[in-house]
Amino acid sequence: MGLSDKDIVVLSGAHTLGKARSERSGFDGAWTKEPLKFDNFYFIELLKGESSGLLKLPTDKALVEDPAFLPYVELYAKDEEAFFRDYAESHKKLSELGFVPPSISKSAKCDVSTSTLLAQAAVGVAVSVAVVILSYVYEISRKK
Ligand code: HEM
Repeated sequence: MGLSDKDIVVLSGAHTLGKARSERSGFDGAWTKEPLKFDNFYFIELLKGESSGLLKLPTDKALVEDPAFLPYVELYAKDEEAFFRDYAESHKKLSELGFVPPSISKSAKCDVSTSTLLAQAAVGVAVSVAVVILSYVYEISRKK
């Protein structure tokens, strides 16, 4: 999908909002004490380890267990501005995955039709040249 380690960690920070419901996912509870507030407490709670009443999915725990992910968790836990900045960037990247801007797809279409036109013109020129040569040969053979 083209997501980096940083994207994975910072996007998981969306779990600072909302909660899991056992009837939906089998998991129950919120990740932070204020699940209606978008802040960096998801990362702060992750670094505290098991805290009673707060949820940690296996994928949340992986962010502190994997040495490639941990530095980002530490960064976002201590620097909320960095979390907001990187989250906005990665959320945009995630939202736009698979989207091809119309300007690019249009110019790709133009390339195809231009090459078709060129091929048709080349065939036209070749046929005209062949007709001229054959007429010339025919005229010469008729005069003999
Ligand atoms: C490793 C990838 C992820 C896993 C395994 C995962 C898993 C889950 C689970 C199990 C729930 C609870 C669902 C329920 O019981 O209703 C949940 C909720 C939620 N997830 Fe994720 N998630 C992931 C990535 C993300 C991402 C990338 C975002 C947003 C950018 C996100 C945003 C949320 C939010 C806001 C909720 C709360 C929903 C609510 O309150 O109804 N999650 N997620």
